[in-house]
Amino acid sequence: MPNGEASGRPQDACDAVVVFGITGDLAYKKIFPALHNIARAGRLGLPVIGVARGDRTEEWLREHIRSSIAEHAEDPHDAATDELEKRLVFVAGDYNDPSTFARLADVLQNSVRPLFYLAIPPSLFETVVQHLSEAGLADRGRVVVEKPFGRDLASMTELDNVLRSAFGEDDVFRIDHYLGKESVQNLLYFRFANSFLEPLWNRDYVSSVQITMAEAFGVEGRGGLYEELGAVRDVVQNHLLQVVSLLSMEPPVNMQPGPLRDERVKVLDAIRQPGREDLVRGQYVGYTGEPGVAAYSTTETYAALRLHIDSWRWSGVPFLIRAGKHLPFTATEVLATFHRPPQLLFEDALPRDSNHLRFRLGPDRVSIALGVRSKKPGDAQVGRNVELYMCDDEVGAMTAYERLIDDAMDGDPTLFARADAVGASWRIVDSLLDGRSDEAPELYRPGTWGPAAGDALAAGVGGWHEPGSE
Ligand code: BG6
Repeated sequence: MPNGEASGRPQDACDAVVVFGITGDLAYKKIFPALHNIARAGRLGLPVIGVARGDRTEEWLREHIRSSIAEHAEDPHDAATDELEKRLVFVAGDYNDPSTFARLADVLQNSVRPLFYLAIPPSLFETVVQHLSEAGLADRGRVVVEKPFGRDLASMTELDNVLRSAFGEDDVFRIDHYLGKESVQNLLYFRFANSFLEPLWNRDYVSSVQITMAEAFGVEGRGGLYEELGAVRDVVQNHLLQVVSLLSMEPPVNMQPGPLRDERVKVLDAIRQPGREDLVRGQYVGYTGEPGVAAYSTTETYAALRLHIDSWRWSGVPFLIRAGKHLPFTATEVLATFHRPPQLLFEDALPRDSNHLRFRLGPDRVSIALGVRSKKPGDAQVGRNVELYMCDDEVGAMTAYERLIDDAMDGDPTLFARADAVGASWRIVDSLLDGRSDEAPELYRPGTWGPAAGDALAAGVGGWHEPGSE
């Protein structure tokens, strides 16, 4: 029976999920908790097939799933965990060995639309995809891959060619978990469901846009992986450029995946090629002592950058982005500042933190607030800052991974990055990083807002806005 009939999914929904790398970190921290939540919502209803190399047993894997859910699911549910376990089939074997894929094909013999989740290093994609093809499994499947997709435009194109040798573009689901976040989706909803904003949302009223993604922690045991990336490739190329595109794109003609994704790409294509003066790289003191990190590492753990969008809507409005590890606290926030009133009529000077629209994207609460000035009661014509909260919620109950895996099962590509958008982001990042990777980044002390040069980058817009720590 097609999966659609079992759980209210579309007719061509996937009817099996195959996770390559089932014993790895991504499966442990994100995929099992997401599948558990999907089971809790009564939407699993299909076999989950784990593939991994090594000598792990099915018993070990079951235990592993239980501890993943206890540790990482927000609201562990015994019945959902039992269901996930019950549906689990383990195929252990080498990815280079065709017999692994023959056994997988056996397990999948009743599946007409399997979903292959490649939770494995990109260096293994080619081997796995080739074997899936040879085993006759790729042409009816969908494939999910993780960000960052490649490490520059050239390697992204190579990876994409590997995937596209076996899967059509419509069957490739490139995950960027920011697109699955409730608060990031609200950027789009809020912009296009409220007509008051549209007349203001352009260069005539907005003077600058800032995005800060601050994290109070370091690389947390991911030193080896992080060394390959650095802050720009880890979060700017994907998460933060997605946020920029949702903030700045034109209204799509409708909410179908095609028009929506077209507009996201158009605005990324309109970003002017940045130069070296547009990027400041920093590294927290102590990073080179982290496990897996080279003693003389030049990887950046902080990046501040300035972008310009050459379009009628945004010409002349700087978009400033900063992201860093070991900053004072964890918060992701967008601040769009409006032009000052043309004449100062009152006794007090207008402080910088007013006349703005602020989007708090996480981690715990999400909010949208309009920052205005209002008169303080009394004789003097002086005011105070007031924020009008237009949304102030707990982060949604559905996690980003749950939403995205659920959508991939349904074959809905809306919240996934299309190849042209990933390519457009790499073009921006390639010019930002051009020749910079071997340069020593500026050092900053953990718990501070990064190097002074990062502050200087925002001097032209009155400095960085500091997100609230709540
Ligand atoms: C990941 C990055 O993609 O996003 C991490 O690799 C980062 O370095 C994480 O910490 C942040 O995600 P979130 O959802 O916690 O903001």
